[in-house]
Amino acid sequence: MLEQLPFTAVTLHGPTADIGDLSERVLRLINDRLANTELGRTIAPSALLPMLDGAITTGGLGVERAWETFETAVAPHTLALDGPRYLAFIPMSPAAAAIWMDAVVGATSFSAESWMEAAGAVAAENQALDYLRELAGMPTGAGGAFCSGGSIGNLSAIAVGRDVAGGRRLVAVADTAHASVDNSLRLLGMEALVVPTGGDGRFAGEALSAALDASGRATELAVVVASAGSTNAGIVDDLRGLADVAHAHHAWLHVDGAYGGAALLLDERRALFDGLGEADSYIVDPHKWMFCTAGTCAVLYRQPHLAALTHRQHGPYIEVLHGADPSDEWNPSDYAFQLTRRPSGLPFWFTLLVHGTDALAEAVRAAITTTSYAVQQLESTPGIEVVLQPQLTVVLFRKAGWNQARWQAWSRDLLDREVAFVAPTRWKGQTIGRLVFLHPLTTTDIVDEVIATLR
Ligand SMILES: Cc1ncc(COP(=O)(O)O)c(C=O)c1O
Repeated sequence: MLEQLPFTAVTLHGPTADIGDLSERVLRLINDRLANTELGRTIAPSALLPMLDGAITTGGLGVERAWETFETAVAPHTLALDGPRYLAFIPMSPAAAAIWMDAVVGATSFSAESWMEAAGAVAAENQALDYLRELAGMPTGAGGAFCSGGSIGNLSAIAVGRDVAGGRRLVAVADTAHASVDNSLRLLGMEALVVPTGGDGRFAGEALSAALDASGRATELAVVVASAGSTNAGIVDDLRGLADVAHAHHAWLHVDGAYGGAALLLDERRALFDGLGEADSYIVDPHKWMFCTAGTCAVLYRQPHLAALTHRQHGPYIEVLHGADPSDEWNPSDYAFQLTRRPSGLPFWFTLLVHGTDALAEAVRAAITTTSYAVQQLESTPGIEVVLQPQLTVVLFRKAGWNQARWQAWSRDLLDREVAFVAPTRWKGQTIGRLVFLHPLTTTDIVDEVIATLR
């Protein structure tokens, strides 16, 4: 006789799960967040950690107390990276449609690693990817996947460039490349040939040729990494010149457009990106300047089958996912370092469907207009010098007599008073001010409020 197994009551799942009015609380929070334009605040560990002390118990706190812990300890102590007062690093500004679709993505756990498991989600993501491909001027047949962010996108794409290059390991990269490129090269066992940029911060084909000649190692060149919108200064490199030099050396051209790729939505900025269509791989983060929620980078390859050679995972338990013809049944997990994945492209796709591309272009243009306003205001402020005329939406500026400590105090003061989150940077060895505008709701009043603190 079989022994009777003890079944205990499981209370976690199903419509009868004991979660009280949690759905109402969550809806309220999301709606409040959509209406909120405040910055939020940060907090010292010594003040925050005691609020979480003992929160994980054997018996559970129940919804009421668990939510209270979340509402008092967690939610208020985050800066609104997605709000109009966040002017540091690279902010974001997800559209309401993206936020709600992201909630659906979280709730459904669609397993979008494979066509077999989530054909609908993968097809929709691929439609959005194809729109980005077309914007970039990459040929029909180019494709890839959405991954979690620009860092993983850069790593994934450079890994493919490395594998295609046989034994070559040298990567030409400007001194303006994003930090994730340096980390990627270390993880991939590759070596950087760092090419210094001049006063305009732009990596050009001639500088690449000169650096290769001077190094005497041109035959080792495997990959060239270009920026289509550098993080620090928002500069688009000479993509045409870099493509020509890279391909003359049979090297892979990777273009990091994580931030700047959004400006392709604007006819009047498109000329900056001339040559992008020649890239072997390209990334753009809809979670930066394309109004999507966090966790969304598009990585595109000119020849996606090369990416599948690098990234497809093999194991007896997953062979069933791999159809005979990948162009027929597309598996996003073949195109980046990832297996299980949420369809992070769906919020972007849905925003495109709801609003159309013109609305996105207008929102991108709004940030460009705000940037021009900020430049005018800074230029008319005594003691301030704008270092570079922005190509996109990053403004770099000096203030006479301000050193690193003074800039840091400025940043801290604005954060403490919840005016804005701003962060200085270094440019050609000097600490200077930096403001980045991405959010269409960053008003001229907010700009004035910030610039007034520099007078
Ligand atoms: C040009 C560029 N590339 C890559 C990244 C990294 O992207 P993520 O933060 O999504 O990993 C950033 C982030 O700001 C960036 O500006």
